[in-house]
Amino acid sequence: MEKLNISFIGAGNMACSLIGGLLADGKTPANIHIADTNPERLSSLQQRFAVTLCQSNSAATEAADILVLAVKPQGLKQVAEEIRDSVQAKQPLVISIAAGVQEKDINRWLGSDVAIVRTMPNTPSLIQTGASGLYANDKVTEQQRNIAETIMRAVGVAVWVDSEQQMDVVTAISGSGPAYYFLFMEAMQAAGQELGLDAETARLLTLQTAFGATKMALESSEECATLRQRVTSPGGTTEQALYTFEEGELRKLIKQAVTAAAKRSQELAQLLGEEHT
Ligand SMILES: NC(=O)c1ccc[n+]([C@@H]2O[C@H](COP(=O)([O-])OP(=O)(O)OC[C@H]3O[C@@H](n4cnc5c(N)ncnc54)[C@H](OP(=O)(O)O)[C@@H]3O)[C@@H](O)[C@H]2O)c1
Repeated sequence: MEKLNISFIGAGNMACSLIGGLLADGKTPANIHIADTNPERLSSLQQRFAVTLCQSNSAATEAADILVLAVKPQGLKQVAEEIRDSVQAKQPLVISIAAGVQEKDINRWLGSDVAIVRTMPNTPSLIQTGASGLYANDKVTEQQRNIAETIMRAVGVAVWVDSEQQMDVVTAISGSGPAYYFLFMEAMQAAGQELGLDAETARLLTLQTAFGATKMALESSEECATLRQRVTSPGGTTEQALYTFEEGELRKLIKQAVTAAAKRSQELAQLLGEEHT
C-alpha cells in the first residue's frame, strides 16, 4: 500500500479529507498525485500536503495504481470519457466517490472491463468521522478490495455491500443520515428553549447528549434497545418521553423517511446514468 501511487481527479473537499487521512496513516505524499481544473486549489493543496501535481486528468491516470474519481457527479461522465484511453492502457483500480453514479455507467464511460469500487461517503468524512458504504464489481481483486477499504477508512468506518442496489439504502441511512440527526437535535434544542433554558445551554446539553449516547452505543456490545431499556426507569421521566414518541408512531415515521430517501436515491441514479448516456 505505501508504495502504490494513488491519483485523485478532483481535489475538492472530499479528496482533501481523504488525502489528509492517508497522510496521517503514513502514506508518502509524493505517491499521491492530484489533478483539478482549479489551479489555485491545486497549488494550495501542494503547499499544504506536499503531494505531486499533475498537468491533466490523463497524466494523473497514467501515474495511478489507484485512481480516485472525486469530481461532482454531474461532471463524472466528461472526466471518465477524457481518461478512457489512459484507463484502458494502465488498468488502475478505479474508486468513485461520486454520489449516486452507478458502477455500470462509470464502467461504460471508461470503456468497460474496468475494476471499479463505488463508494458512498458522508459529510462527517470531512472531519474523519465518516461512514462509507463500498461496492466492488467483479473485476476487483481481493487485494484491491483491501486497498479501497484502507483508503476509505482514512476518513471513518467503511462497510461493504454485496449488491449495488444496497447503495440506495446506504445513501438513505448514512448518506442522508447526518441531516436526520441535525433535525432531531434542532427540535430538542427548540423544546429546551421553549421550556425555559437559554439557547446556548439548550444547544450544549443537546449536542453533548447526542455525542455521549452515540459514544456509549459505539463502545458497547449491547443493542441500542438494551441501552435504552437500561436508562428507562418504570414510572420515570424517560418512560414518559418514550411513551410519547411511541404514541406519535416515531418508528413508523423513521421507516417511511428512510424508505423515501432510498427510493429517491434509486431515481437519481437512474437520471444521472440516463442524462449522461
Ligand atoms: N462533500 C461531501 O460531504 C460528500 C459526501 C458524499 C459524497 N461526496 C462526493 O464526493 C465528490 C466530490 O465532492 P466534493 O464535496 O469534494 O466536491 P468539490 O469540493 O466541488 O470538489 C470537486 C473538485 O473537482 C474539480 N473539478 C471539476 N471538474 C473537473 C474536471 N473536469 N477535472 C478535474 N477536476 C474537476 C472542482 O473544481 P471547480 O471547483 O473549479 O469546479 C473541484 O475542485 C462528489 O462526487 C460528491 O458526490 C461528497
